[in-house]
Amino acid sequence: MKNICNSIPFIQKRLKQNTGSEAEVVEGERQVLSRRGELKFFFEILDSLPDEEYNKPAMKFHMKNVTKYVNCRDYPIAVETGTLFGDSALKLNRYFPEVYTIEINRDLFEKAVLRLKKHPGIKVLFGDSRAVLEDLVPKLQGPCLFYLDAHFSGDHTTDWKASRWKGYKVDTGCAGDRATAENQVPLFEEIRLIHDFVKSECVIYIDDIDKFDESGAGLKDKEFKGEDWSHLNLNTIRSCLADRTTLWERVKRQLIVHLHEIR
Ligand SMILES: C[S@@+](CC[C@H](N)C(=O)[O-])C[C@H]1O[C@@H](n2cnc3c(N)ncnc32)[C@H](O)[C@@H]1O
Repeated sequence: MKNICNSIPFIQKRLKQNTGSEAEVVEGERQVLSRRGELKFFFEILDSLPDEEYNKPAMKFHMKNVTKYVNCRDYPIAVETGTLFGDSALKLNRYFPEVYTIEINRDLFEKAVLRLKKHPGIKVLFGDSRAVLEDLVPKLQGPCLFYLDAHFSGDHTTDWKASRWKGYKVDTGCAGDRATAENQVPLFEEIRLIHDFVKSECVIYIDDIDKFDESGAGLKDKEFKGEDWSHLNLNTIRSCLADRTTLWERVKRQLIVHLHEIR
């Protein structure tokens, strides 16, 4: 595998400015830093890489949001639900050597497979995140980060003119034949599967936490006409995880949850 620093000139430049050396970062199985404290700096550089480098604006995963609260830098695995174009999978692979990303829309899945084929650490899986997680989760060896971002994000039937957000300009998927609330956002079932079947410690990173109001109720029509999170409640999610939760931290539009290991 190529040295990540050599492959990203932006990082080389920032490291040189900071340390006066180009040889501070080496990569074996995963990225390793030669000096303590620089790992934090490294994460900051990676987070601050302009998203344009990966084309699309969808990437809202920030490692510094996690490392601020949880020491998970030795986690080998990240699992993402909702691949879309594959941007956040690429970003996750900057930090995690083994990345699984799950997409329900066949067309998006096939395009992501093609786009990500040069990244052997990323496995793109097709299907409803609930079914795929049920199969995948018991096989995962070691602590994982779960980036939960699967949700219907509109399609050609959406009234984009009447919507605040203007969409990804592609059809995104949902479970079932109709975009009912339950079919649009599989978040609660994903959470339950992780809670019940992941034995090792893990971090759950939930994007779009602003789709809940202050009382915890899921909202309707927030970003686009027809979007529906009303079957969800953040308090119910919190209760479901309570017996394993060691951290529940909201960071802007994201929620970071840490679950302890069970035997
Ligand atoms: C917000 S986008 C994901 C963005 C992506 N994580 C990123 O940051 O680049 C949501 C994606 O979830 C997919 N999706 C919706 N329901 C799903 C489900 N039940 N299982 C898997 N993927 C789903 C949609 O097709 C869409 O591509």
